Amino acid sequence: MRGMKKYRHVIETPNPGKWELAGYEANLPISEKSNPITRELDKADPVQIVQLLKECDAEIFQEEDEALLNYKRLYSESVLKTMIDIISKVQEVLKDPDNTLIVLSGGGTSGRLAFLITVSFNKLLKGLGQLPCYTYIIAGGDRSLVVSQEGLEDCALLGIEELRKVCEGKKKVVFIGISCGLSAPFVAAQLDFCLNNLDIFLPVLVGFNPVSMARNDRIEGWHSTFRQVAERMQKLQESHKAFILNPAVGPEGISGSSRMKGGSATKILLETLLLAAHKTVSKETDISEKCLLEILRTYERAHKVTYTQSKKIAALVKQAGTSLQKKACVYMVGWHTLGIIAIMDGAECIPTFGADYHDVRGFLIGDHSEMFNKEADLIAQGSQFAFSQEDFVKMVLPSLTALDTVLFLFTLDGELTEVEKLVVQVKEKTSNVQALSHATVGQYLPKFQRELSTKWILNTVSTGAHVLKGKILHNHMVDLRVSNSKLFWRAVSILQRFTGHSQARCQEGLLKTIYDPEVLSDEIRSAELSKHIAIAAEKNQVVPTTLLCLLRNCSVQEAQVRLDTSPSIRAAIEASLNAPGRKRGADESDPTGRNM
Ligand code: F6P
Repeated sequence: MRGMKKYRHVIETPNPGKWELAGYEANLPISEKSNPITRELDKADPVQIVQLLKECDAEIFQEEDEALLNYKRLYSESVLKTMIDIISKVQEVLKDPDNTLIVLSGGGTSGRLAFLITVSFNKLLKGLGQLPCYTYIIAGGDRSLVVSQEGLEDCALLGIEELRKVCEGKKKVVFIGISCGLSAPFVAAQLDFCLNNLDIFLPVLVGFNPVSMARNDRIEGWHSTFRQVAERMQKLQESHKAFILNPAVGPEGISGSSRMKGGSATKILLETLLLAAHKTVSKETDISEKCLLEILRTYERAHKVTYTQSKKIAALVKQAGTSLQKKACVYMVGWHTLGIIAIMDGAECIPTFGADYHDVRGFLIGDHSEMFNKEADLIAQGSQFAFSQEDFVKMVLPSLTALDTVLFLFTLDGELTEVEKLVVQVKEKTSNVQALSHATVGQYLPKFQRELSTKWILNTVSTGAHVLKGKILHNHMVDLRVSNSKLFWRAVSILQRFTGHSQARCQEGLLKTIYDPEVLSDEIRSAELSKHIAIAAEKNQVVPTTLLCLLRNCSVQEAQVRLDTSPSIRAAIEASLNAPGRKRGADESDPTGRNM
């Protein structure tokens, strides 16, 4: 029997997926499991891609089901209660802005969301004539906002160094560490530092796995695992000295791609919490569950409104896919914070799909002064770090071709002459010009929800385009770049899934490709993971190459030739999966992945 619905929902979410059943890919945390909804994503057409990702996103709002494993969900009472407890701590800080700070930190998308939320809430304070009291940290600094640098997520000590710097002289700090998978060493070390300095810090962990599924492998140069830090925090939650906000939102549409649901849920949770804190800070009344629910429902409504446009989103997916298939580019040009969403989306395509930095790119139109910690790290740093209107006009416009797609993102609120000017210039070069415009009347969405709606659409467009390009196998991004420890272990897990071989054999195969043409010595085998990653991060198609080697028992060279002469990576792998005499892999024989 399904659990009783406690709240009136804006959207009806589908029945719970079997990922909630005990034993479904039991050795993987929720954030790394493959979502049963998108199992056939690689064979879907644009309309189906949008439908499948819509269903995945709807799981964010699904309620706890007592009949199943009983994961906490967004609307669970314990989650709402934790939010209320954190809010009262945030309010203490808001009341004493001179001596206090709210720090949001993370790697990759989590760091970019820390940036976006900081920008929004400091602006809100400025509008009220108050001092800014938010700041952000992203692994790798401001450059990582535009171009991903996943390796730095592994640097525990760097995390602490950055945190110390921004908090110098502060008497009270609310530290919000975001790691969707409860996995980034950069964030683990920062939380650990806070736990050792509880007189100043209130550590808050935001992520989407239960603590028992937090990463537990050794962190290089550090004494604890992420799980150990999270367990310490869990013990302190009762005395309100630390908090963990970790509802389950279900596996990602593309396995492990936490930029999607993880990123969206981070935005929903943190904006709801902070908005509620600001709304009630000067009132005598305490924040209620009802107030939180009202805000959360506006996000749920945004999901419904967004996907009323599914047909148009599917057309965008198709066009972006065509551009990528023809080796052309997709540009997303957004006004104000919609530009930040565009930049986020583009930057994530690099590690997610092994894409080139110019395949999918975001640009921010409008004033960006006072946004960044260190703007100098981004301005005039060359084509790779281009992100602004000036950059778009100088570096992209002149070389735009008829095969490129340009998508404009804006709100219908009076800045249309600016938009029109740019559209005219772009249209001289390509007819593939599209607009995603948010209404200010009728199906109107408030700012935060407009941003989320944009994020959902862009995630779908860039993911769908890469599916059409043949980068995805089932719902796995087989061509991920092996550029940090989490991605190294995800690569091993993908190899196991599709070959059915042991972890040891897949790891050996991965190392062979990474070090090719060098022969694997014992010294190489026993080197620190960071050494393997430093080499792998510079190479292309490491995972698909290894997969072919393992499936065909062939050399790295032969695998590379097969990939080069195949219409797509997916086609090359499928041909090898179907090669005569090959033993069936785990993914084909056991969809629950139990034998991994
Ligand atoms: O390493 C790349 C990446 O997987 C990004 O895609 C993601 O945004 C980032 O790591 C952070 O992941 P998490 O929020 O789980 O720490």
